[in-house]
Amino acid sequence: MVKKDVLILGIESSCDETSVAVVKNGREVLSMVTNTQIDIHKLYGGVVPEIASRNHVMNIDTVYTEALIQAGVTIEDIDAIAVTYGAGLLGALIVGVNFAKALAYRTGKPLIAVNHIEGHIAANYIAHSELKPPFACLIVSGGHTALVEMESYTTKRLIGTTTDDAIGEAFDKVARECGLEYPGGPNVQKQAENGEVKYRFTNMDKEKIKDFNFSYSGLKTAVINFIHNEKQRGNEISVPDICASFQAEAVGQVVSKSIYALKQFDYDKIVLAGGVSANTYLRAEMDKKASEIGATVFYPPLKLCTDNAAMIASAGYYNYIEGKGLADPKTLVPTSNIQL
Ligand code: KG4
Ligand code: ZN
Repeated sequence: MVKKDVLILGIESSCDETSVAVVKNGREVLSMVTNTQIDIHKLYGGVVPEIASRNHVMNIDTVYTEALIQAGVTIEDIDAIAVTYGAGLLGALIVGVNFAKALAYRTGKPLIAVNHIEGHIAANYIAHSELKPPFACLIVSGGHTALVEMESYTTKRLIGTTTDDAIGEAFDKVARECGLEYPGGPNVQKQAENGEVKYRFTNMDKEKIKDFNFSYSGLKTAVINFIHNEKQRGNEISVPDICASFQAEAVGQVVSKSIYALKQFDYDKIVLAGGVSANTYLRAEMDKKASEIGATVFYPPLKLCTDNAAMIASAGYYNYIEGKGLADPKTLVPTSNIQL
């Protein structure tokens, strides 16, 4: 019997990107169409949930139609519809979930509910055709900082997580305090490229390495206090130096704990997932430290690091072929928080 190709339609609307993609057998992107709202939210210094929802409503139908056209398929060719049901902004998630529910109900196609973070991990399956679980994975996003072991495509074990803020949130808050535009993370990186590591805000990248949990609120607050104090004293602040120092500590913490986990659990692969995995300093540091212990680092290309529907379709595919994540098109509800 010839094995039939499986086509998954992915839908993502958890934050400020409306994205629809068609992915073949979990790995091959036939199309990925994304409408980004960055220029709209930039005016407000961050994502305004209500505005994000309204723009998803305005764009989703066009993005969906274009994704099918670019893939050269019709909805009849699709085997299952995968949609991000959380975590994310509730009003934004509702748009993608309702669109997917209506589509699944009308066509009778299976509906797969995908955890956004599992989507970020799956971006690596698209980028690296040879990558298979088990592996250690560092999740660094706007909402999460965690180390997990991917035991299989659909099961994972939590090794460590943040006790307070996520690393991406710290990047965004530091950016705002430095007067940098939204989105903060890439702008902190850009500033850091022209700065020097002159300050030490905490010892979190050195302390407690033998513990897998993370903490970012101390670092975030230390940077904010430093900027306020310097301004009160009438001192000029060097945004590039502050960004370089902050980035070195923020990245130092995730790299040292990842390397400790690799050694401790004898993994030879570390996979980076989530928006902060776009950070070039993080990639370089992880490459350097992992190569010292003979481990390989995997990360997605930039366009798959940020929110996109191809990664949701890939995660949806692995759930679909294992009979997991199946949702009822009449009752699926999105959720703003999901435990990892
Ligand atoms: O993974 P993501 O989409 O968030 C969640 O799904 O929760 O990632 C968004 C986060 C934001 O905090 C953004 O500032 C950060 O990723 N980010 C970066 C970079 N590009 C995006 N942080 C540091 N350096 C970057 N180059
Ligand atoms: Zn995301």
